[in-house]
Order: sequence, then C-alpha cells, then structure tokens
Amino acid sequence: MNEKILNEALAKFVKRWGEEPTVIAYAPGRVEVLGNHTDYNEGFVLSAGINFGTFFLVSLAEGSTCTLRAGDVEEETTFDCAEPGRSEEFGWSNYVRGVLAGLCEVGVIETGFNGLLLGDVPIGSGLSSSAALEISSGLALAKLYGLDVSAIDMAKIGQASEHEYAGVKCGLLDQISSLYAEEDKLVMSDFRSLEIETVNMGHDACFVVCNTGVKHALVDGEYNERREKCEEAAAFFKGVLDHPVAALRDVSWAEWQAHHGDMEPVAANRSAHPVGENDRVLRGREALHHNDLVKFGELMFESHESSMNYFDNSCPELDFLVKTARSVPGALGARLSGGGFGGSVVVLTSPRDAETVSKALANAYANEYGQACENLLIRPSEGAHLVE
Ligand code: GLA
Repeated sequence: MNEKILNEALAKFVKRWGEEPTVIAYAPGRVEVLGNHTDYNEGFVLSAGINFGTFFLVSLAEGSTCTLRAGDVEEETTFDCAEPGRSEEFGWSNYVRGVLAGLCEVGVIETGFNGLLLGDVPIGSGLSSSAALEISSGLALAKLYGLDVSAIDMAKIGQASEHEYAGVKCGLLDQISSLYAEEDKLVMSDFRSLEIETVNMGHDACFVVCNTGVKHALVDGEYNERREKCEEAAAFFKGVLDHPVAALRDVSWAEWQAHHGDMEPVAANRSAHPVGENDRVLRGREALHHNDLVKFGELMFESHESSMNYFDNSCPELDFLVKTARSVPGALGARLSGGGFGGSVVVLTSPRDAETVSKALANAYANEYGQACENLLIRPSEGAHLVE
C-alpha cells in the first residue's frame, strides 16, 4: 500500500469536498503467474496481489446523487444512487457504477455518495487496474452503506460489473486475486469449488513485469470470442467422452490428444490451452511445495508457448520478451499475464537478480523496438482491505 498515493488522494478529497472521507478502502492489482484463461473454464490459477493498487475514498452525500471523481485525470461524473446507468463519456466510471448496481441488489441504497479514486496500477498493462477499482470501491461502498457482503460475493459483484458495464465476459480471477492476496504468497484458486488457498513463494522469488504498452483488446471482443470457443469445445467433449463434462476443467490432456482431430480446428486449438494450463498449475503448485523455482519457471515458459501455439492471445512484442528472457541469466521463467493480446510479460526471478534481469530485458526491447518496455518489480503483496 503506497502511503504517498493515499496522502495525495486524501488531499484531493479534502480540496474537493472540504472534509475528510468517512471510509477508505484499498485494493491491489494482480499478476497472473500460471493458469491462463482457465478461470472461466472452471480450472485452476496461481496468481498474486501486487504492490500497486487503488484507493477509494468516500462519504455520504446529501441527496440521492453520487459524485464520482477520478483523482488522476481530475474528471468528475454524477449519477443517481438507485440507477447508476452506464457512461459513454467517462468510461472509467462504469466499473464503479456496475459495483454500485450490484450492491443495490444486496440492500436498499437511498443516499448518494461523494467518492474519489486514485491508484498506481498502470492501465491496460494486464495487471488488472479495473479489478483494483471494482474491489476498492466495492469494499468502501459496502462499509459506507452498512452492507454485509462476503469476499466471494464481492468478487462476483466486481465480475458482474465487468460483464454488464464494461462488456468483458471475464472470469473471477482478477477480483479473487485482489481480495485474497497475501504478502510473499501466491493465491491458488479452484474456480469450480471456489476454494482458495495461499502457497508460499519463499523470500528468494519475485517478479519483474515488463509492460510492452501494446494495448490489449479485451473490450474489443477477442476475449469474449476465446470464451465462446472454449464453451463450444466443452460441448464437443461432453458429446464424446464417457464421463460428465461441465467445462474444459473436466478434460484431460490425454483426452484432448485423442479427440482434437475430430473437432472444428479453431475450437480444438483454443481448448488445448486451458486444458494444458490446468495441468501446469497443479504441477506448479507441486514445484513450489518443493521449493523448485527452476521447475516452476519452466512451466511458465511452457504456458507462453501454449498461448502462442494454441490460444493466439500473444503478440510479437510479448513473444520477443519471453524468448529473450530464456537467455537472460537469473530469469527463471516468463509468460504473458492476464487476457493477453498485448499488455505485460511476467518474469520469475530472485530479488538478487531482479535489477539486472530487468535492465537486460529493457535494453533488448529498446534495441528491437526503439523504446524500452516499462518494467516494474513485483512482490506478492497484501490483499484488499479497509484503511483505518
Ligand atoms: C483477464 C480476465 C480474467 C482471466 C484472465 C486470463 O484478466 O479478467 O478473468 O480470464 O484474463 O486468465
């Protein structure tokens, strides 16, 4: 949690509304470490909360109007508390409008709010600035309105906001990672049972996240198209396997190999990715239990190969970074993180090597593309919470 940003947000709030907020909440962005596009296939993911996040500061207003301000761009928008609606003009506000709409289904909300958001998760980098906003605003508003919402329900409210207000049919990964994150740990989620555990990473591991600045096209429908293909593939396997198939989670790699030749080719390729990823996450957890970071890193490289070969959610810039990482001493593994189609590569390294690994990748990227990628040192960090 970045105290400097918190103080900046407080100053902006006081400047705008003349008094301190009643409630403040913080939520981190997340990095997806292993398990790509497995969440909506009811599979497994290893992820972490990151040391970058969003603050949401809020007080009750007088009437039923909500005034929402973005502290970074200094834009402001208003809407009615009982009917937030979508905004074309202030796209960033839709995540909060969607969360408020979700909370309106939990309890009666008759009073508006004055709210301000400010954070440091780079936008469009694949580190889920949107989940950080949904969860920070969700926690703050639930507290403000005295609503009792469990962590899983809060995650679902954030997800529904993405589906209905931002148009992305995402799974629950981003919201769950932000809520359940713990320092020095990875969050291991089972998206069928919604059982969540944390796995120790040890002090010798950290991540360098290299942001290519290539804009991911989540909202442009690529993501939703992948999801549809996965559902189509699951329906195929349901028809040919002699055990129940509710989602691709129920398909093994051996079953995929035995049947993919009979499938529509695009659905065959797309389904290979989550099926392989589920297996890699389980092997990754095992490797962590044995403190085997080299093995874990190898699984990350394999995950990226699978994105390239089967899921087609990478891009030349991401591929270049992952390929380069293979020959950088101290870089144990690398892969794209999150939706894909641009955004960031996550590189596994140790605190000792992080600086040199980061420089080597930034230099190589600058030589290739004329401009360095933006690198962040990521430590698995605390999850979302109210700020006293
Ligand atoms: C995005 C989505 C998540 C998940 C990842 C891919 O981050 O929001 O739900 O599907 O992509 O693993």
